[in-house]
Amino acid sequence: MTELMDGRMTAKKVEDDLKIKIGLLRERGKRTPQLTVVLVGDHPASLSYVAGKDKACQRIGMNSEVLRLPRTISQTELIKVVQRLNDDSQVDGILVQLPLPAELDPQEVVRAIDPSKDVDGLHPINVGLMHMQLKGFEPCTPRGILRLLDEYQIPLQGKDIVVIGRSNLVGRPVAQLLLNRNATVTVCHSKTADLQRYTRAADVVVVAIGRPHFLRKEHVSSKCVVIDVGINRLENGKLTGDADFDALNGYVSHITPVPGGVGPMTIAMLLENTMDAYYAHEALREV
Ligand code: GUN
Repeated sequence: MTELMDGRMTAKKVEDDLKIKIGLLRERGKRTPQLTVVLVGDHPASLSYVAGKDKACQRIGMNSEVLRLPRTISQTELIKVVQRLNDDSQVDGILVQLPLPAELDPQEVVRAIDPSKDVDGLHPINVGLMHMQLKGFEPCTPRGILRLLDEYQIPLQGKDIVVIGRSNLVGRPVAQLLLNRNATVTVCHSKTADLQRYTRAADVVVVAIGRPHFLRKEHVSSKCVVIDVGINRLENGKLTGDADFDALNGYVSHITPVPGGVGPMTIAMLLENTMDAYYAHEALREV
């Protein structure tokens, strides 16, 4: 029997908790936390992600603002927008939706965000803090993966964990968070010579490479926990992950479905990070 790891249910628990906290703030006449998302252009997947974040804020009573900027905006103008949000005391969290149009430099834009408002955990300060096991904002998808593993009481300490993919958004940070939890982590990627050598021995495989049905039964053992980060749109319009779900379901120990696995956790962690940013900002105002 394979246990499905239900991201919708786990994300709802997080959202319910945040909704209560925001309700209490309201009752006490406090300011409401706010997330501002900056969306440049009209990349179709980005439009859908941003709409999902906006809806989630509404569900829990968090203020949500989406700034839609033309795809022709200059780097200087975009950085000015970010600086204005840095200075706005109503704004707790800033997220610049990626990818940006090719003419813009995402690294420079992310670096312009005040690290105390970087609820995406992508600013080099927050990346560095995570690497040093110090408190900062952790990227939402990696944090969501760890929360889901904890919810299903998957042990991490001393376990062999393989991460497939080495992106700044998922592969690298999730490997770091797992290492911080005393797992033995191997990061595999497109140049890895013999992927199966690593994955077959793994207790947990996190696959984040953006290739539909990439991870198959022959890659893993039956004791494996499979975390599928892929969101691939097939030609028939169906969403599918990076794992061959139908083949692995019934064989492995645990697997995350797509949709309904890691995706909802990413949004829940964004809300949680924004709430943490709010508490930090309010605490500073009180001194
Ligand atoms: N685009 C896809 N995933 C993400 C994410 O986690 N953060 C941002 N800013 N953009 C994304």
